[in-house]
Amino acid sequence: MIDNLKIKVVKSEIHQSIIYSEVIMKQESTKKSKTILYMFLSIMAAMIVLGIIFNTELKELLNRPALYPHVLFLHIAAVTLFFANAVVGILWEHKSLTSGCKEVIIHTYNTVSWLDARVSSPLIIVSVITGIILTVMYGDIMETGWLLLAFLLFLLSGFIWIISDIPTQYKIKKIMGNLDPAADVLPQELTRLLKMRFWISLGGVIPLLVVFILMVYKPGFSLPFQ
Ligand code: HEM
Repeated sequence: MIDNLKIKVVKSEIHQSIIYSEVIMKQESTKKSKTILYMFLSIMAAMIVLGIIFNTELKELLNRPALYPHVLFLHIAAVTLFFANAVVGILWEHKSLTSGCKEVIIHTYNTVSWLDARVSSPLIIVSVITGIILTVMYGDIMETGWLLLAFLLFLLSGFIWIISDIPTQYKIKKIMGNLDPAADVLPQELTRLLKMRFWISLGGVIPLLVVFILMVYKPGFSLPFQ
């Protein structure tokens, strides 16, 4: 009887220390993810600067119809992967919250935000770069209704994520960093923020779904200000 009790206590301590070390590992991984994100943003900024300096050479390079399908392939691959990752991440986090299990919720949140930082962020940057190259080769964005609307919706989605998801993630990480390893349930505030993240993510993904539809069907219309 006492032995059984001891085993249970040891098991629960191991469990708690796994969660705790996962939170610590997450904080270290966040630093690495930030470095990767900054690296990609610097590459993008460097490409813009090079594009301005070597404008004539860039126009000559893009004036090759043979290049179009390769850039289109990269664009479709990148957008499909990051869009799918966003949708699956939302469903996965939602499922973990309904389980009510502390370990599952923390592990899922950490995995989804790891994927967002390490996989989705670089893919978004590839999507924007290839999207801009395609636009330069395709025609005038200001004259093409579906393209302009898609571009604005893409910006809207990014804006929703930046103004709502980043502050929420900051609060979530702060609470997770101060978690009591002995507590059986998550603090109410943390559960509330994680539930709120579901709605924020949905708000960011819906405009992207419309962008996807516009990019494929390319309906012929003009925006009122065009
Ligand atoms: C900065 C943002 C973006 C720009 C400027 C852009 C621009 C373009 C352009 C010019 C094309 C070529 C259309 C053609 O050749 O017929 C294209 C194709 C495509 N884009 Fe985007 N795009 C952007 C973001 C996105 C996003 C966020 C998605 C999905 C969520 C997406 C999905 C697609 C798809 C699926 C195609 C292939 C359409 C086809 O071949 O019929 N794009 N994009």
